[in-house]
Amino acid sequence: MIDPYAKIARWYDAEFEGASADIRSFVARNAGPRVLVLGCGTGRVCRGFPADRNVVGLDLSAPMIEAARARGGEYHVGDMRAFDLGSFDEVIIPNGSFAFLRSRADRAACLAACARAAPVLTIDVPMPDFALLGQPHTPERPAWSGLVDGVAVERTREVFREPVAQRLRLVDRYRAGGEPIVSELVLHLFTRDEMEWMLEASGFYVDEAWGDHAGGPVREGCDRLVVRALRL
Ligand SMILES: C[S@@+](CC[C@H](N)C(=O)[O-])C[C@H]1O[C@@H](n2cnc3c(N)ncnc32)[C@H](O)[C@@H]1O
Repeated sequence: MIDPYAKIARWYDAEFEGASADIRSFVARNAGPRVLVLGCGTGRVCRGFPADRNVVGLDLSAPMIEAARARGGEYHVGDMRAFDLGSFDEVIIPNGSFAFLRSRADRAACLAACARAAPVLTIDVPMPDFALLGQPHTPERPAWSGLVDGVAVERTREVFREPVAQRLRLVDRYRAGGEPIVSELVLHLFTRDEMEWMLEASGFYVDEAWGDHAGGPVREGCDRLVVRALRL
């Protein structure tokens, strides 16, 4: 399997480290001290928990885990579709990481492993922008720029939408002098109903759902779908 983060892990923290609204919401609703974060990347969410919690991170990408470990903490290279790291109070799959699972079988395998690991599961994925779904292509445009180790880095994003497949293909090009480095992310788009029956079929029920990280309702135009599910 190609790791789209291998080439860009060195720039990830410079762009995303400051984002903390999701972390505040996870910490405020945290179900207990033993927390497992799946698709933890470079550990942004893990690091946001208070020091008295025992937070463990797992990610498929070895370079992302290497960057996480460099800042301290317990991290494992592994696949959220098949893991066994013991028992936790809560599993969190933040920031769209669950949307990287391409097939129903992949999602079912992940949810079954989550049900074995903890009684509480929080999943945060982007809410589809239904208006934009009718537009198959957004040409490349600037998305981020920053300074990393004294080098100016720019990221552009080009988006391809496949509404029938409920899929987004995001083509990110990083320019830091020389040829652009291209990273392609393919994400599944979930509806609320789909998320709920999938969780129910996997032995959970959805206790609460939010449309943003401030705890607002799931409604037209909200940009997140955050669900907190309890094991039946
Ligand atoms: C958008 S990043 C989010 C990283 C981090 N949670 C954050 O919020 O900064 C998605 C992460 O999911 C990871 N990922 C994708 N598929 C995975 C899988 N099957 N198992 C574990 N991690 C996976 C990627 O390697 C990547 O680090």
